[in-house]
Amino acid sequence: MPALPDDDDKKWVYRLHTAVKHQILQKYLGAWVPILGKWNKRLVYVDGFAGRGRYSKGEAGSPLRVIDTLVERMDTFPGSPEYVTCHFIEAHAGNRDNLSAELTQHPNAHDRRIGYRVHPHTFEADASGIMREIRATGEPAFFFVDPFGYDDMPMSLLEEILQLPRTEMLINLMTSFIHRGLAWNTDPKMAHTLTTLFGSQSWQMLAVQQDLPMHQAIVQLYCDGLKKLGAEYTVPFPMGHETIRKIIYYLIHVTNSDMGARIMKDQMIKAGTSGQFGFSLDQPLGHVAMIHHDLDMLPELLIQNFKGRTLRFEQVIAGTLDTSGAYMQADYRRVVKDLATAGKVKIHRVKNPAGKGLDYKDLVEFLH
Ligand SMILES: C[S@@+](CC[C@H](N)C(=O)[O-])C[C@H]1O[C@@H](n2cnc3c(N)ncnc32)[C@H](O)[C@@H]1O
Repeated sequence: MPALPDDDDKKWVYRLHTAVKHQILQKYLGAWVPILGKWNKRLVYVDGFAGRGRYSKGEAGSPLRVIDTLVERMDTFPGSPEYVTCHFIEAHAGNRDNLSAELTQHPNAHDRRIGYRVHPHTFEADASGIMREIRATGEPAFFFVDPFGYDDMPMSLLEEILQLPRTEMLINLMTSFIHRGLAWNTDPKMAHTLTTLFGSQSWQMLAVQQDLPMHQAIVQLYCDGLKKLGAEYTVPFPMGHETIRKIIYYLIHVTNSDMGARIMKDQMIKAGTSGQFGFSLDQPLGHVAMIHHDLDMLPELLIQNFKGRTLRFEQVIAGTLDTSGAYMQADYRRVVKDLATAGKVKIHRVKNPAGKGLDYKDLVEFLH
């Protein structure tokens, strides 16, 4: 069956997983803007695969949504930041025309605190010029990397993005397609695509690994690759398709900021399926597909990880962020306080020694 062109209407049905993806993106940026804007008057947002302005029934795509979020936050927190430059890269002329037309009609796109540019080539071709500008100004940037496939987001380009100062990414990794592609790995063209995607031939290990379901092995290998390039946090959030009930992709948040990683994880949990780390509507997506812990597993996890050690509360969260499943910051706070009451940890309050709270800088001593 020939592949559908990227502007085919069938590719632009607004599905539940798309709404969840947009919620995560918007809620996170809603926090990112005032936090970074406190110290930086100008920020940059890059949508590397921007898409249409609107989906088939008029639902807004990521560029319009992000602009609305930026304007709403700048209204709520005036002056933080003063200006956001948005770069929208869209390779397909049909989708790009739709995006440009919608942006022209969208009042918030003409807010004086927003500057937007629509770039007409590919993510790979247009990102270099954008990165040159970011390097010159040193402005913090957020990259949304949201392709339909996986053959146009080379790891070498993500490496360059990671080297920019104070830059974060939200990457859509199409594990279901990659899984299928792996079956064709003897084809030289596919082998080249996979090597470009992973940045090495490490993907060849996937054929022989038996420890994990394949999509988990793919995302883990990919995140390990990002970490080798200097990414501190790479939290992968599984996304299911509501009708086929399978994991189709992972959203991976890539950041070097403790606070950013914590905030994003909370937003992912809030947008996802209750009690799980991921979005799956009402069905679990395969019993081992999600990282899923019962709510009373966090104490055990923390004790296993940190017994005999003393760490700041923020390090306790950071050290277990990608293994603790659907636990939010508030859960960590409650569990550490409960462990203190049970005599299993001691809290040394740095910020407010006489208080009862738990600050990120407070020390948590895990007793032997
Ligand atoms: C998944 S859609 C984007 C959806 C959009 N980010 C949203 O959330 O509403 C992917 C888009 O990337 C475009 N595209 C495909 N290859 C591209 C490339 N190499 N560079 C930039 N855009 C590309 C497609 O035409 C399509 O519009």
